[in-house]
Amino acid sequence: MSTRIQSLQARRIWDSRGRPTVEVDVYLEDGTMGRGIAPAGASTGSNEAIELRDGGAAFGGYDVQKALANVRREIAPTIIGSDALDQRGVDQKLIALDGTPNKGRLGGNALIATSMAVLHAAAASQRLPLWRYLAGDQPVLLPLPEIQIFGGGAHAGRRIDIQDLLVMPVGAHSMDEALAMVANVYRAAGDLMSDAGRRAGVADEGGWWPDFASNEEALQMLTRSIEKAGYGNGEVMISLDIAASEFGSDGVYRPGLEGRSYQRDEWIAVLLDWLAKYPILSVEDPVAEDDTEGMIAFTQAAGAKVQVIGDDYLVTNAARVREASANKACNAVLIKPNQAGTISETFDALQAAKACGFSTIVSARSGESEDVMISHLSVGWNAGQLKVGSFARSERMAKWNELLRIEEGLGASAIYAGRGALPV
Ligand code: PGA
Ligand code: ZN
Repeated sequence: MSTRIQSLQARRIWDSRGRPTVEVDVYLEDGTMGRGIAPAGASTGSNEAIELRDGGAAFGGYDVQKALANVRREIAPTIIGSDALDQRGVDQKLIALDGTPNKGRLGGNALIATSMAVLHAAAASQRLPLWRYLAGDQPVLLPLPEIQIFGGGAHAGRRIDIQDLLVMPVGAHSMDEALAMVANVYRAAGDLMSDAGRRAGVADEGGWWPDFASNEEALQMLTRSIEKAGYGNGEVMISLDIAASEFGSDGVYRPGLEGRSYQRDEWIAVLLDWLAKYPILSVEDPVAEDDTEGMIAFTQAAGAKVQVIGDDYLVTNAARVREASANKACNAVLIKPNQAGTISETFDALQAAKACGFSTIVSARSGESEDVMISHLSVGWNAGQLKVGSFARSERMAKWNELLRIEEGLGASAIYAGRGALPV
């Protein structure tokens, strides 16, 4: 039976923030269907693939009719007849058809939804779970999860400046145990917030709304939550996504809660002070995306002890990863398919990172859907780590729960990456 693409269908659906997004169904000649859904960021890097939005009054300008029309009028006629098993061939057609460096003509949302749909269809046509289709016969690892406990920054009305305060259950022995440990920390944090009269709902990715007086108070509360849940001896460690591009540029940082501005070196000193005081093992985007000097300085000071992740700084781009490795500007990369715009380019960024000795973290966006592809990418590509947001709301839980099913499917050969996934 042929795995050639027979038809595409594009529709507007709604993401986890209630905003329009692009869904694409790809049908193969053998009757298989694959469905891709574009996620969406809020604190986006300026070099990411462009999400094509309609602008205007409807839905705050977020409608995606132009992107949908691009799938129907241009993308479908171009890839119909292509073999879905040839992901790179399909993606190359998409890249050439768009013709821009940032996917701005057809829209990164139109392209990634299509590219994901093709991959889902290919795996389904082979009657394989997606992770297994990707891994072939190679052994795989279940990823160390980074799970948000408090959400801040652009995902919580800038209530605090740090965007994500996350935990990593490095001491777990299985995925099942890892998620159970995080469930305990999440609940403990909610109870502590409640006791302190500070529990005010959840942020965009399901983490507790950060009703704190300072950024450091959030770090104290997270450390206490880990202790209250009963974890010591480095079993559960902290990971921070500073997302510093949201409050810094040109080497100057203006975190709203701190009430003052910091020069690059002063801001790095604040971060190093936190590293000295709290059990932090990973820091993402410590300085702004335009601050290579700051990334290098931070990595020089802290990179031997903590994972330093480039997200906005690297935007899932293989060439940027290689440059950052040459500069020693970080030691890890966040891998977000919609930052690249196609699955093949996402894979290239991941492979470039592995070749440089960087650790790799497959990641969701703050605007998500029921699609669980990233769980499969993290396992099938042996990324070692997965970041999905918090431990609440089904667009997040669907992805964590999928890892439990994959772990069960692997049976005795299931290996949890744990602490070994980190570069330090
Ligand atoms: P975003 O946030 O999806 O809003 O960009 C996630 C992140 O910064 O890691
Ligand atoms: Zn980030």
